[in-house]
Amino acid sequence: MPRLAVLGYPVSHSRSPAMHTAALAELGLGEEWSYEAIEVAPDAFEARVRAMPGEGFAGANVTVPHKGAALSLADELSETAREIGAANTLVFPHDGESGKAGEVVVRAENTDAEGFLRSLPGSPAGKRALVLGAGGAARAIVWTLLREGAEVEVWNRTELRSQHLCEELGGETVAAPAQTAYEMIVNTTLVGLGGEDPFAELPLVADAFAPAQTVVDMVYGGEPTALLRAAATAGATTVDGIEILVQQGALSLEAWTGRPAPLETMRAAARG
Ligand code: ATR
Repeated sequence: MPRLAVLGYPVSHSRSPAMHTAALAELGLGEEWSYEAIEVAPDAFEARVRAMPGEGFAGANVTVPHKGAALSLADELSETAREIGAANTLVFPHDGESGKAGEVVVRAENTDAEGFLRSLPGSPAGKRALVLGAGGAARAIVWTLLREGAEVEVWNRTELRSQHLCEELGGETVAAPAQTAYEMIVNTTLVGLGGEDPFAELPLVADAFAPAQTVVDMVYGGEPTALLRAAATAGATTVDGIEILVQQGALSLEAWTGRPAPLETMRAAARG
């Protein structure tokens, strides 16, 4: 009975259990595999993860605020996770046989970057992109956009953080972005999660989007966010946080089960 879970703090809002449970059922693995949500505080995170292989877990997703800690505690890192500096997926390659010298018990991967890329309508190569935010989510987005050949500018409320991010990963910081100058705008901040007005908190104007732009909002909820509603009204292409959740989750599921993920089933379950 391999077990899977999402680890977060808080975690009750996560759509991952519904999405993965539906996917496992669709793959015919619903009787054997399970996926649960585990709330774990930062000071208990490492001990919790270390115990998981021995409890029958095959892997886990990691969400806010543990993506950095997941990277630090892993015995082995994927190249992508190491370069981004954050991990959203843990794989426990040996089921419970921990403790042997040199054995890999916890492997950390990052599927956020590739999941984001797959959610886009086309290649970002050569595109001018604005990334809003400088947290863990922004790191994966900036890293992958630069790697794909986009020109990236980063705005953050606390400019020191965006400066650090760009020094480490590349891209340019921008204090007052010209909204119409970008072919892609990606919100990685938490603005909108608690119903905040994005046009009060972010350097964007509701009626200044354009049809040629792709606007991505990583915030997800039951309804399109105010940011995406304004972008869609202007005729821009929009990508929501649920699609990114589905794509990163599909890659994680494939890493754990070795089976192609049922995207449509996952989308329907994630949207509830
Ligand atoms: P994550 O790992 O999900 O990216 P995080 O590291 O906590 O989470 O980062 C949250 C991001 O949302 C940060 O860029 C944060 O800006 P600060 O660095 O200035 O804190 C941004 N953010 C949160 N609330 C915000 C608000 N009301 N206005 C603008 N940015 C906000």
